[in-house]
Amino acid sequence: MKKLILACLLVMAPVAALAAGGKSCGKIECDAFDVDLHDKAALQRGAQVYMNYCMGCHALRYARYERTANDLGIPAEMVQGNLMFGDSKIGDLMQNALPDAQGKKWFGAAPPDLTLIARRRGPEWLYTYLHSFYVDPARPYGANNLVFPDVGMPHALYELQGQQVCKPAWKIAANGGIARDPVTYENLEDEHYPCGRVEHVAGTGQLTPEEYDRTVADLVSFLEYVGEPMQLERQRIGIFTMLFLLLLLIVAWMLNREYWKDVH
Ligand code: HEC
Repeated sequence: MKKLILACLLVMAPVAALAAGGKSCGKIECDAFDVDLHDKAALQRGAQVYMNYCMGCHALRYARYERTANDLGIPAEMVQGNLMFGDSKIGDLMQNALPDAQGKKWFGAAPPDLTLIARRRGPEWLYTYLHSFYVDPARPYGANNLVFPDVGMPHALYELQGQQVCKPAWKIAANGGIARDPVTYENLEDEHYPCGRVEHVAGTGQLTPEEYDRTVADLVSFLEYVGEPMQLERQRIGIFTMLFLLLLLIVAWMLNREYWKDVH
């Protein structure tokens, strides 16, 4: 029995380690971010941002307007009036009008469908990615990304966030020497490592940095929802299942005791 318990613990160890450690977002560590799928208002705001700023390039072709509207508690008329793309119908899949070939021609890579992106990349990655665009005149659309270097996507939320510039990861240490980047330990004087963090240029953008954080949080929460609309339901069923199994365990244990009572 002891061996069995030990084996179980050993099997679970890597999972625990994964859950504990900070995730890696390219060269930097991901920002911490927790999704709250119970916050319907946030999901609704996220859907709105998505439709306004992302849908033109990225379809959600494995989700339907109707289901999304029902799950998020948005009235159908409101979806039809404000959130739907082109002349789609409420029962349609959430498609856009950008053919892959055209996207490839314009951006170097076709914008991928984002229905399952939160499951592939994880919410922390998305949250950090949307905070990591910076001005880079060498790129076709003038923007680069620290988390996804040379990404084909322009900074879609530029008007909201404003300008961000790239800074070396190192800083001059307090003693006048050169400090190493605490995340990557990259040497300071390495010319090939000019960009280690992004810095917001104060006063640019329609939103304050805090408002922008919230907007991105809403957007990423929405993507997390779209990636698995059943998630809350699944967790609810899971709790009932565990309670049921517990009940069954008690009954089985009592029955077992009853059967063996006279055998001695
Ligand atoms: C003008 C078109 C355009 C808009 C608008 C746009 N994107 Fe993109 N996006 C792209 C392209 C093109 C790529 C593929 C880049 C590549 O592979 O180099 C991309 C890639 C991405 C990726 C990375 C996918 C991967 O492979 O992991 C994410 C995440 C993403 N976009 C999210 C968003 C979000 C969220 C919005 C809305 C705020 C948005 N995009 C708006 C064009 C766009």
